Amino acid sequence: MATFDELIAEGDAVPVAGWDFSWFAGRATEERPAWGYARLMGERATRARVMLDIQTGGGEVLAAALRASGARPEVLAATESWPPNAELARRNLAALGGTVAEVADDDDLPFESGAFDLVASRHPTEVGWREIARVLRPGGSYLSQQVGAGSNRELTDFMMGTQPVTVARSPQVAVAAAEAAGLAVADLREQALQVEFFDVAAVAYFLRKVLWTVPGFTVAAYTEPLRRMHAHIAAAGSFTCHSQRFLIEARKPA
Ligand SMILES: C[S@@+](CC[C@H](N)C(=O)[O-])C[C@H]1O[C@@H](n2cnc3c(N)ncnc32)[C@H](O)[C@@H]1O
Repeated sequence: MATFDELIAEGDAVPVAGWDFSWFAGRATEERPAWGYARLMGERATRARVMLDIQTGGGEVLAAALRASGARPEVLAATESWPPNAELARRNLAALGGTVAEVADDDDLPFESGAFDLVASRHPTEVGWREIARVLRPGGSYLSQQVGAGSNRELTDFMMGTQPVTVARSPQVAVAAAEAAGLAVADLREQALQVEFFDVAAVAYFLRKVLWTVPGFTVAAYTEPLRRMHAHIAAAGSFTCHSQRFLIEARKPA
């Protein structure tokens, strides 16, 4: 059995670039949303000539969705704010003819109005609804899976003590913002997904990667809560929390 110090050193050392969760295999699990976002994205992409993926991360989800569906939009664009991810995305999307624009998550989009048939975005940190509506062509669609209010709150509360849950990330707020930007919401689905951690290295790595779960998290600053987490997992076998997800699809009127 690895000791607390060994596990923490391991969880602190894994590189956080990219958005590939394969390291967690055997150490943590997360239920998948029933709607199958990558499949929906791939399907929508088969009907798009010009497509944009906002905050593409390392471009992994977009590349996999296009490969699985066989969709090959003539023009494929993506945005990414974090330079290490932008670099990865350029590599992952090159074979599909994709280009990556490096812009801050809350910046205006560096594209012409009405340019895109399809705009997609999974787990954006910020959603610029007016900019999305601007760059869609009339009749074009936005497809997005987003992180809902109170995602993994059991983990946040375990590490930080009970925290308030803001409604800013609720699906209802997203619907109101989409409509205010002139989009018509065609689909909205919500799901709470069970997340289970089987060792404290996985918890430490997750908190380093999913930065907003415990804002300002570092292993050094949270050693004591991590020690309590290690004891909890040793006694209970795992730590369980729930991520919140919603799917929203919205159209720009023709
Ligand atoms: C949650 S990620 C989702 C990426 C991609 N759409 C996906 O679903 O795999 C959204 C954005 O968070 C930001 N981000 C992710 N990891 C980051 C990190 N370690 N530091 C700063 N920003 C990060 C990046 O701007 C990224 O595009």
